[in-house]
Amino acid sequence: MKTVPPATFRHRHLLGIEGLSKEDLLLILDNAIGFKDVVTRTIKKVPTLRGKTVVNLFFENSTRTRTSFELAARRLSADVINFDVATSSVNKGEALLDTVETIEALGADYVVMRHGSSGAPHFLGKAVQASVINAGDGAHEHPTQALLDAFTVREALGDIAGRRIAIVGDILHSRVARSNILLFRKLGASVVLVGPPTLVPDRFRELDVETVHTLREGLTDADVIYLLRIQLERQRRNLFPSLEEYRMLYGLNARQLRHAPDHAIIMHPGPVNRGVEISREVMELPQTLITTQVTNGVAVRMAVFYVLQGAKAHEQNGHS
Ligand code: CP
Repeated sequence: MKTVPPATFRHRHLLGIEGLSKEDLLLILDNAIGFKDVVTRTIKKVPTLRGKTVVNLFFENSTRTRTSFELAARRLSADVINFDVATSSVNKGEALLDTVETIEALGADYVVMRHGSSGAPHFLGKAVQASVINAGDGAHEHPTQALLDAFTVREALGDIAGRRIAIVGDILHSRVARSNILLFRKLGASVVLVGPPTLVPDRFRELDVETVHTLREGLTDADVIYLLRIQLERQRRNLFPSLEEYRMLYGLNARQLRHAPDHAIIMHPGPVNRGVEISREVMELPQTLITTQVTNGVAVRMAVFYVLQGAKAHEQNGHS
């Protein structure tokens, strides 16, 4: 396995793309190439986290992210505890901080946290010794999703700089969109946000992106078409008339896809509302990389653990 020594990575936690430099991002993405080799070979384990304990602490539902972090930690030889919030003392009123301190007392080295409140992982990171990895906080950030998306784009198209990324859908409620906007801009891509004005307000232009309100405009010249899930659970008021109307105006089908260049790839973080954001026939196309994104999530999360472990070792050796 070829890895790049994480000598320059200085972060104890991975809380968001916002706090990472271009060099930090490239270090994780370059190391993920070596870890993808590991997860596709016969013997899929390396000893990077031998003797370390990883706690998965998910206060919101997850299929891909939780299983992907678990597999990544096990492939690195860590012990993994899946903390089941539904049956834990959190339901008896135990404070979040008490819960995590309990977990730390059990010897956790890493806490992977998903929470419905923006900033919850940042709060934890200030209070505990373990390294905290943000697996999604409210509508704020989902940094490892953005990293695995960038890895998938690099693998499919090569260099990200100069590419045009069209992000389509519910930008307003999407932590995935926010992390992807920050990451792709840091790596030199241009980003266009596509959707109805209620979900893509013009104020997003402050993030140095374009906003357009028709799918056709968004697809023209796009190298990457990134479809977001309509998050009905986060919408407190009706921001578009119906799912059917959304599908007609912003759902990607074979007819709409003709407006995009032939080389464009299609991505979605999952879970997909089939037949709404994307038609069944487009789901089946070879340039639709949704399952590749899930596969790449394991390698990218292994790389995240690897660079954080490197930063801890650096700190323990007396460097600040
Ligand atoms: N992409 C993503 O975060 O999926 P899950 O909600 O299944 O983890």
